[in-house]
Amino acid sequence: MIDEAATDFEAVHGARPSGVWAAPGRVNLIGEHTDYNDGFVLPIALPHTTRVSARRRTDGRLRLYSAQGDGTVTDLALEGLAPGAVASWASYPAGVFWALAEAGHPVGGADLFVDSDVPSGAGLSSSAALECATAAALNDLYELGLTAPELALVAQRAENAFVGVPCGVMDQMASACCTDGTALFLDTRTLEQRHVPLDLTAAGLRLLVIDTRVKHDLGDGAYAALRAGCERAAGLLGLPALRDLPAADLAPALDRLPGELRPLVRHVVTENGRVLETIDHLGRGELAALGPVLTAGHASLRDDFRVSCAETDLAVEAAVAAGALGARMTGGGFGGSVIALVGAADRAAVFEAVRSAFRSAGFTAPATFTAVPSAGARRVA
Ligand code: GLA
Repeated sequence: MIDEAATDFEAVHGARPSGVWAAPGRVNLIGEHTDYNDGFVLPIALPHTTRVSARRRTDGRLRLYSAQGDGTVTDLALEGLAPGAVASWASYPAGVFWALAEAGHPVGGADLFVDSDVPSGAGLSSSAALECATAAALNDLYELGLTAPELALVAQRAENAFVGVPCGVMDQMASACCTDGTALFLDTRTLEQRHVPLDLTAAGLRLLVIDTRVKHDLGDGAYAALRAGCERAAGLLGLPALRDLPAADLAPALDRLPGELRPLVRHVVTENGRVLETIDHLGRGELAALGPVLTAGHASLRDDFRVSCAETDLAVEAAVAAGALGARMTGGGFGGSVIALVGAADRAAVFEAVRSAFRSAGFTAPATFTAVPSAGARRVA
């Protein structure tokens, strides 16, 4: 795979790359729509990665090529990069160059060849994988000396300010910082992180990912509206962020809010509680106990935050009915993927039950795989 990446690079850019960097997609175990409320998240990195082969250029140009693109090289002048100026997939790597330069880091031009097996539009953070692989490549090529969390923040800045998606920091932190065999417990306010061992196999469990094939798009305004709603609610309550509302004060706080904001606040406060509950279970080695927490998280996203859809609801329902210990949509929502925690012996039956339910409902067949907690961004050649 690595040799192939170098050969592909050479075919497009006419020379060998200096190296190859990889960054993974992610699924979030629990803690959804909490990151832009200064709350807690618990993602794992997937084995699926985006690989960036790269080489410095001395003429201040960025020449970007994607194996999943239209077969052309996007050629940009680093000088002329400005938010909103680059369309398509190229805005993610270009945004990373821009964010680094804007932060005063001495980056010059580069040739990039991008190849990815992270499904795009599936809620598995293909954008963060592309940003973080690019950031890792530039960090080494230009010897910037940035740490993994610093690269994640650069990647988030690229997505927020250059691409124009007001995402939180979870996806980039997961892609940059995760380690093999662990989930990343992140406090998105302090950015304190803990790698929590997650050996599902030893517990006789598997984490299934069901990509509903409903393409999710966080750039369409719904995500921004939810974020704005949460920020408005925090403002009305006189709090810096919804993170600052203790569960015990939830009921009286809801009484002080307009009706449309109440379910948003209820979700964020209870979801932060579910992350902490999950951490407690993991600390005691009670992995099977995560199941009901996941399912409760889905109900909250469906009924209060309203970011699920018919396909994600059906996948959760069918998985649980077929014996999954718990299931929920993962990521931003509006389509995308569902995770299901199952006993190893029930894996095939759960996959089949979901496929069969989708057939009966007339939905596109879902794509399925088993997730194992994998490593974050790294140099691979
Ligand atoms: C998307 C965003 C993240 C986070 C999730 C919801 O994946 O990129 O920052 O807000 O949605 O938890």
